Amino acid sequence: MNQVTLTINGRQITVDEGTTILEAAKKLNIHIPTLCYFKLHDDRTINDPGSCRVCVVEVEGRRNLAPSCSTPVAEGMNVNTSSIRAIKARRSVVELLLSDHPHECLLCEKNLNCELQSLAAELGVRELPYQGKKATYEIDNSSYSIIRDMEKCVYCRRCETMCNEVQQIGVLSGVYRGFNSVVAPAFNLPMAETNCTFCGQCVSVCPTASLTEVHYIPDVWNAINAEGKHVVVQTAPAVRVA
Ligand code: FES
Repeated sequence: MNQVTLTINGRQITVDEGTTILEAAKKLNIHIPTLCYFKLHDDRTINDPGSCRVCVVEVEGRRNLAPSCSTPVAEGMNVNTSSIRAIKARRSVVELLLSDHPHECLLCEKNLNCELQSLAAELGVRELPYQGKKATYEIDNSSYSIIRDMEKCVYCRRCETMCNEVQQIGVLSGVYRGFNSVVAPAFNLPMAETNCTFCGQCVSVCPTASLTEVHYIPDVWNAINAEGKHVVVQTAPAVRVA
């Protein structure tokens, strides 16, 4: 395979042709934040739609910032991963995502384990400058094991890659367009009415609490199930009876 030599933050590195800037930076132990990008441990499955733009970097001679996760290296490339412009752009991206995200971190299942929350901290987001319309969706708690809360979806599409390419179930995919874009079962069917096998792999790769597991408390379940009701109890203090 052909080799390519480039410079990242003043340090030279030679990598295989086709390597992305993100991968090359990792070899130099240079951290670039990511959100939609996801690579399974087996290295074969990569989710890199280049959609979130959290990983943008400055490339000398290019007018636009480049998403490092999906931009291949080039001979002689000179990359700056921590320019003021790149950092400001990343922060704006996270601020925009948060402008259409529920602000209930303390009550959220993923509190302190949420990638969006971590990014906001890492990028120094201290206020939410963008206010406006928010997309609203019904919580889907139709299944006995997975809760879908699409108001927390950041449209990274990791769940879609996991469901389709890895598990080969094909339940989740992008639906709607523009502001209402979201990942959901076809025709936005409730999970309980799909072919979902409830393997839970989509939950394991979701960066936020858009997809979470149902946690049963057996006594509560048994007591209320005796009345024929479906009870979902989350670790967060939310008890839902439907
Ligand atoms: Fe690169 Fe989302 S992580 S565009």
